[in-house]
Amino acid sequence: MNAPTGGGATMVGGPMIMEPGGPLRGRTRVPGDKSISHRVLMLAALADGESTIHGLSDGGDVACTRAIVEALGARVDAEEDPDGRQVLRISGGRLGPAQSDLDVGNSGTGIRLLAGMLAGLGFASTLDGDASIRRRPMDRVLEPLRAMGASVTGSGDGGALAPLAIDGGGLRGIEYRLPMASAQVKGCVLFAGLSADGPTTVVEDQPSRAHTEELMAATGIDVERTHDNGLDRVTVLPGRPTPFVHDVAGDPSQAAFWAVGASILPGSEVVIENVYAGPARSGFAAVLARMGADLFHDPVTSDLTVRAPSGGVLSATTVRADEVPGLVDEVPVLAVAAACADGETVFEGVGELRVKESDRLATVESELGRMGVDVRAEGDRLMVRGRAGSQLRGTSVDAHNDHRIAMACAVAALVADGPTTIDGWGAVATSYPMFPDHRATLLAGGIGA
Ligand code: S3P
Repeated sequence: MNAPTGGGATMVGGPMIMEPGGPLRGRTRVPGDKSISHRVLMLAALADGESTIHGLSDGGDVACTRAIVEALGARVDAEEDPDGRQVLRISGGRLGPAQSDLDVGNSGTGIRLLAGMLAGLGFASTLDGDASIRRRPMDRVLEPLRAMGASVTGSGDGGALAPLAIDGGGLRGIEYRLPMASAQVKGCVLFAGLSADGPTTVVEDQPSRAHTEELMAATGIDVERTHDNGLDRVTVLPGRPTPFVHDVAGDPSQAAFWAVGASILPGSEVVIENVYAGPARSGFAAVLARMGADLFHDPVTSDLTVRAPSGGVLSATTVRADEVPGLVDEVPVLAVAAACADGETVFEGVGELRVKESDRLATVESELGRMGVDVRAEGDRLMVRGRAGSQLRGTSVDAHNDHRIAMACAVAALVADGPTTIDGWGAVATSYPMFPDHRATLLAGGIGA
C-alpha cells in the first residue's frame, strides 16, 4: 500500500530533472519563515544588547540581510542546537556606515524593509541587489519615505529603481495609507517610524501579513493596532527594541508546496512541523479546503497535516481579490492544484504578481502551459481550467530566476507523465535550499531533515 513510486531528482549543472512520483507521506520541517527572519535580524541589530534567534530561514535572501546587519556593525555568532537548527546570537545597538554598498541579492523584502530602517539611521548607505531587484518598483517605498523627510535617491529612468542611495536621519512621523496591499511597504514605513520624531501610522484597506507589528510589539516597541470603518491602522512610537529571544516558526509559503502535493497525489498524508499560523498567511489552506482538500492546522503544536482528499478529487474555486494578500506568494502552486481540480479556477485581483521575482502571471501561464495546463493570464486575473486526475506533460520548463515558479513546477512534475527538466533551479536557494531533500524524504515516506 502506498509504496513510493519514482520521484527522483537530479541536478545536472543548472537544470533540475524531476521524475514523477507519489504519494507524499511522513513528516517534514520547512525553513524558518522568511518574512519573520528578515525582521528579527533587523530588530536584533537595532536592539542594544544580545538577542538570540532560533531556526532562521536558511535561504539566500535572509543570508543577505544577515550579511547586511553585520556590515552595519552587528555582531553575529552562529551555532547549532541539539536538533540541528541554527541558533544565532546577535549583539546590536551600535550600527554605523558600511564599508561598501549593501547587497540584498534577490530579496524584495530585504531591500524595502532595510530602506525604511536605514532612512532613520544617521549615516549614508546604498542598497543594491541582483538584476531582478534592479527591475522591481521601489517608488512604493520612496514615496512614503520622502513624505517622512528622508533623503533617498533611486536609479534608472524616473529614479524609482535600485540601487537606492540613502542619507539617513531627520525623519518625521506621518500617517500613510497604503496604495496597494503590501506588507513590505507597511514594514518599511514602520521601521522608519522607529527613528521618527513622533508617531507613525500605516493605514491598510486590506490587511497584509502582520509580522512587523507583531515582532515590534513582542520586542518592546510601543505599537497600537486598531480596526475601524473597514480600515486597519498600525501606529508605532519611536524607540528601539529590547534584546529578545525568538524561535522562528516554519514558513507557510513553503508548507504550501507540500500541502498542494499531498492534495493532488492520492494516498498522501504529510505532517509539516510547526508552521506559522498568524494573520494573512494561511489563505492557501482556506482555498485548498474549499477545493476539497483535507487539512488540519493543530492549534497546540502548529503542525499542519494534509491528506489526499477523501473523495479523491479537488474541485475548482474562485479566489477573490480580498483573499489575495493572505496567499500572494502561493498563487503559483495553487495554480498547480487548480490544474488537477475539476472545472475552472479563477484568481481575481492578482496584479501584484506581475512585480514579484518574475512576472508571475506570465511565468505561471508560460511554464504550466508548457506542461499542458490550460491556463490564461489576462490583466490582473489568472484562469486555470483543470481536470481531476489529469496527468501533466513532463517537459522542459524555465524558472525565470524565480524560486516559487521553480518549486511550483517541481510539484506539478509529481503528476506529470514523464521527467520534467527545470532550468534555473538555482533560484530555489534564495528560500528553500533543502527542497529536493524534503521532496525525496516525503516520497520515501520518512522523516524530513
Ligand atoms: C513579504 C510581503 C509580500 C510577499 C513577500 C514577503 C514580506 O510582498 O510577496 O514574499 O515579508 O513583507 P508585498 O508586500 O510586495 O506584497
